[in-house]
Amino acid sequence: MDYQPPKFDLSLVDRETWSIFRYRAFMPLEGEYWREISLGEGMTPIVPFGEDVLLKMDFFMPTLSFKDRGAAVLISHCKAIGVESVVQDSSGNAGNSVAAYCGNAGIDCEIFVPEGTSPKKIDMIKAHKSRINVVPGSRDHCADVCRNKVVKEGKYYANHVYNPFFYQGTKTYIYEIYEQLRRIPANIVLPLGNGTLVIGAIKGLEELLSSGVIEKMPQIILVQSEYCDPFIQAVQTKANKAAMKTPLKPTMAEGIAIGAPMRSEEILEYIYKYAIHLIAAPEDRILEARMALAARGIYCEHTTAANYAAYLKYCEVYGKTSDCLIPMCGAGLKSDH
Ligand SMILES: Cc1ncc(COP(=O)(O)O)c(C=O)c1O
Repeated sequence: MDYQPPKFDLSLVDRETWSIFRYRAFMPLEGEYWREISLGEGMTPIVPFGEDVLLKMDFFMPTLSFKDRGAAVLISHCKAIGVESVVQDSSGNAGNSVAAYCGNAGIDCEIFVPEGTSPKKIDMIKAHKSRINVVPGSRDHCADVCRNKVVKEGKYYANHVYNPFFYQGTKTYIYEIYEQLRRIPANIVLPLGNGTLVIGAIKGLEELLSSGVIEKMPQIILVQSEYCDPFIQAVQTKANKAAMKTPLKPTMAEGIAIGAPMRSEEILEYIYKYAIHLIAAPEDRILEARMALAARGIYCEHTTAANYAAYLKYCEVYGKTSDCLIPMCGAGLKSDH
């Protein structure tokens, strides 16, 4: 995508719009379609959690995950260019988002999810009136099946990883943090499966940097699953591509269980360029982390608890890490099964 937003400046934020579209001066939007498509996504609070941690409550969203940031922009684009029907593959949350926004936009939608996807996510997709295919095998295989359909039937691929419009939505994660805190915390934790929040967040940070709004990049800390860690493996051998055949074992962190991430080269370039740290969420500490959060009123899904479990592990490896912002990406009710 050849789009260069203007220099970031809070005076260009439309404070009368209570959604991510308050940042539309920095988005490649066509027309005013977003007005009928927005479901009030974004504007999620930042909540202190102890002395060292800030939680960004990104499951306070129309479909209860951060994916609404990207889907709102992507489906506004689809509407603007006259798309009538889309297909999409997902571990569940992105499918929920695309299905909801398509429902609102009056666009026909078909979603592919891998077997084992949380039943609540499947129910939500159906409720939004999308067709759903539960594909036997891994998340990576599910993506292959969906892409075959795209190629064979010439369908529009409203995929959160592939489609650049999605990142124009996820970058608002960073704009919001800056608008709320008037600074960027020293440490930013992000989950890394296919990297849709990671790429969006880095784009947002680069924009703030080149606009002179921040002076340096924060320390970015990326979370993989202990059982599915292609990026950690790639960095160990300084590779420029990340892929593993299948996850070693099934993980509770279903949202980040991506063995062959589509944009691994781009993400590895960022990792090397910005000296990004990677950390594996210990599988046996995900439930414990989920309970620790829930005990203090924060009921997140297992993949999101993995972010906190990984942070605790990070502190053991790198020492006490203060001023750290962790995203609460998905709601707890979605992964109760
Ligand atoms: C709750 C949650 N967190 C993190 C992720 C990881 O996002 P990505 O695969 O874009 O890195 C997902 C993806 O579905 C998710 O649902």
